[in-house]
Amino acid sequence: MKEKIEIIKEDITTLAVDAIVNAANNTLLGGGGVDGAIHRAAGIKLVAECATLGGCRTGDAKITGGYKLPARHVIHTVGPVWRGGTKGEPELLRSAYRRCFEVAHENGLRSIAFPAVSAGVYGYPMDQACEIAMTEAKAALERYPELERIVFVPFSEGALRIYRDTFARVFP
Ligand code: AR6
Repeated sequence: MKEKIEIIKEDITTLAVDAIVNAANNTLLGGGGVDGAIHRAAGIKLVAECATLGGCRTGDAKITGGYKLPARHVIHTVGPVWRGGTKGEPELLRSAYRRCFEVAHENGLRSIAFPAVSAGVYGYPMDQACEIAMTEAKAALERYPELERIVFVPFSEGALRIYRDTFARVFP
C-alpha cells in the first residue's frame, strides 16, 4: 500500500496526474497561494467553470476540468481556518480530504496530488495537517482499490521533512 504514496517537493501545477487538489476558499473564485497558482496555470476557463458551482462548504470538495494544466482535473476543496484547534478544525480538515478521495472515486480517477490544505494562510499547523492527510490517504487506499497513486506536495524544505517523518509513522 505504501508504494502508492509519493512525496514530491514541487509546484503542484506541473504534475500530470488525474487530479490535483486545490486549497480553495468558499467562493471557489480564486485567491492567493496554491489557489492563485492553479488558476494562473489553468487559464481563465477554470474560473468560468468554478463560477457555475455555487461555491463550496468548508470540508467539502468539487471537481472541474484542468484546462491548460497537465492534470486532467482539479478537485477544489476548502479546509478550515485554524482558530486554535477547538473549533472543529480537525474534523473539517479530515472531511476535506475524505471528500476529495470520494469525488476522485466517483469520477473513476486513479491518481491524485494534494498540497498542504489549510497549512498556508489558513494557519493550520503543518505537522497536524500532515497527520490528517496521511491517515486519510491510508483510509482511502483501503476503501478504493482502484487508487494507484497519491502524491503529496510539500512546498518548502520544512514541510518536506514533516511529510517524510509523518509518512514513516503512518506507513511503518
Ligand atoms: N504548489 C504546491 N504547494 C503550494 C503552491 C504550489 N504552487 N503554492 C503554495 N503552496 P495556501 P490554505 C503551498 O495558503 O492555507 C487562498 O487564497 C503553501 O506553501 O495556498 O488552505 C485560497 O483562496 C502551503 O503550504 O492554502 C484561500 O483563501 C499550502 O500550499 C486560502 O488561500 C497551502 O497554502 C486557503 O488557505
